[in-house]
Amino acid sequence: MPFTTNQPLKNLNTFGISVNAKFFAEILSEKDLATVFASDIVKANKLLVLGGGSNMLFIKDYEGLVLKVGIKGINVEERGDDVLVTAGAGEVWDVLVKYCVAKGYAGMENLTLIPGTVGASPIQNIGAYGVEVKDIFESCTAFEIATGEIRTFTKADCEFAYRESVFKGKLKGKFIVTSVTYRLSKKPNVQTHYGAINAELEKRGISEPTIADISEVVAAIRVSKLPDPSTIGNAGSFFKNPIIDQTVFEQLVSQFPDMPHYPAADGRVKLAAGWLIEACGFKGMVEGNTGTWKNQALVLVNHGGATGQEVYRFSETIINTVQQKFGVLLEREVNII
Ligand code: FAD
Ligand code: EPU
Repeated sequence: MPFTTNQPLKNLNTFGISVNAKFFAEILSEKDLATVFASDIVKANKLLVLGGGSNMLFIKDYEGLVLKVGIKGINVEERGDDVLVTAGAGEVWDVLVKYCVAKGYAGMENLTLIPGTVGASPIQNIGAYGVEVKDIFESCTAFEIATGEIRTFTKADCEFAYRESVFKGKLKGKFIVTSVTYRLSKKPNVQTHYGAINAELEKRGISEPTIADISEVVAAIRVSKLPDPSTIGNAGSFFKNPIIDQTVFEQLVSQFPDMPHYPAADGRVKLAAGWLIEACGFKGMVEGNTGTWKNQALVLVNHGGATGQEVYRFSETIINTVQQKFGVLLEREVNII
């Protein structure tokens, strides 16, 4: 399995940042992993695991080995009304969603049109429109870098939370996810409570939505709000929605009564980072080659030719301004590489 050197990554990250990797290889099977990890190049270099590059901002060339995970395959096992769907880590997430929706396997439809790969779906516990991967996650297999062994992780092992998992925490950089199994159902329990889903269904005159309807409606809402990375470079929400203590929230909401907020775990409160950023005047702002998206201030964009440093510096300005106005510290959701 060949390594390439000085590999351009511009087309391998959705921000479209022009950087190179010192070494690069694509893994198509677990056997490829074993081969790569027997090589001297792995031993002598730092390692970056790459899926679709849709949650990364490269701020410089990568002076190490980038391993793109391309392991494919979808396997379906029916268990009564439940369906266990196992997909290779390199399957494109939205291709899997469309496959499951077409087959009538319910559970993933609210997660339609999220870019990236299956293997990355548990890393930050992807979520949208009232559903997170943890709600359908059964298990995953992962290659342990230190031992070369394949280990299985249950849902409890993964310690999922909002945009978090064990793979971003204490096991960061230690495992490469090779496949994920999702528990779906042939008996849909459609989730329409989030945001604009109900309004969009009503507009379309749909009172008893199928999972295909939900998938279509979610896609339409997303297209109206989010820039398409194939034309405008971006990595989705650049920051997490901040979660704050109830007492801090009460002080803030007395000053800003129209501030959107949602209940979070342990009696805490989640704020909408997009609203905070918009309230600081950043929505749609163009700053050199970067800026925020005109329909969603939480999304930083590359208007063409932006460097990672430029986007990063702009994100710092946003963090500082939001902190000054609201006393709330925004945390980046995108991986800075
Ligand atoms: P990458 O960006 O390649 O990698 C992300 C992280 O996962 C890195 O740390 C990488 O090292 C690690 N990783 C990747 N693959 C593996 C593997 N096989 N094993 C171990 N580690 C791995 N996210 C949401 O949650 N909800 C959304 O609604 C959403 N909307 C988005 C909209 C747009 C337009 C864009 C561009 C992004 C959006 N995202 C969203 C973010 C992104 O789609 C997800 O984070 C996605 O899971 C990233 O997948 P990826 O394969 O591109 O991962
Ligand atoms: N808002 C504004 N101004 C903005 C953007 C948002 O006022 O510029 C307000 C909205 O009006 C709404 C609230 O903020 O009241 C929430 O907005 P939205 O429903 O668009 O969702 P979000 O909180 O901004 C989150 C996720 C998205 C996910 C959507 C839908 C995070 C960090 N982001 O965005 O995920 O698609 O909900 O569930 O949790 C991603 O992670 O990359 C991503 C796109």
